Amino acid sequence: MHLRQATPADAAAIWELRRLSLLAGCRGFYPDDLLEAWAGGPMPADFAQHIRGHWYLIEEGQQLLASGTVNLDSGRLDGLLVHPEAFRQGLGKWMMAHLELLARQHGLDSLSLDASLNAVPFYSALGFEGGETGFYQSPRGMTLACMPMRKSLVDTAPQG
Ligand SMILES: CC(C)(COP(=O)(O)OP(=O)(O)OC[C@H]1O[C@@H](n2cnc3c(N)ncnc32)[C@H](O)[C@@H]1OP(=O)(O)O)[C@@H](O)C(=O)NCCC(=O)NCCS
Repeated sequence: MHLRQATPADAAAIWELRRLSLLAGCRGFYPDDLLEAWAGGPMPADFAQHIRGHWYLIEEGQQLLASGTVNLDSGRLDGLLVHPEAFRQGLGKWMMAHLELLARQHGLDSLSLDASLNAVPFYSALGFEGGETGFYQSPRGMTLACMPMRKSLVDTAPQG
């Protein structure tokens, strides 16, 4: 298993990982019709353009098992997706440790994200703190409940 930087050529595989991961991981936390609309649909024409920054993938051979990205200007995390067959095997934690290390090396003092409701216990286990439930506005015009969460990188040890 290895972790590598993604390229725009990975966009279609990431979009399919997103569909599988969200449908399995978020089921029961959102109404089925909303979840299917959010996770499904064709890949937006501009999606590949978003894979140019700090997007990373974990693969086993040719199989894509996890993705994630960090914006090294803002400290925003996004795109954390694990293949359902690999849930709870430490891949999400591995990806987050990688993104956190990049952020620390870049001198950022905090990380932030909008957690889907199913993922709040995962981020809490990694030291993120949330407040009140908010709403995430998807680029395709859907509104989903989420939990804004933040982690300080000051005076905290890197996640192992
Ligand atoms: C949320 C997600 C990224 C977690 O990735 P993962 O690889 O399954 O999680 P890990 O195995 O790295 O878990 C690390 C720790 O987080 C906690 N954790 C993970 N999933 C959890 C869950 N469903 N409930 C409670 N705690 C959880 C546990 O403490 C776990 O350690 P343990 O397994 O030793 O107890 C994954 O379930 C996923 O892709 N879900 C669907 C997509 C999604 O919601 N992404 C987040 C969008 S904001």
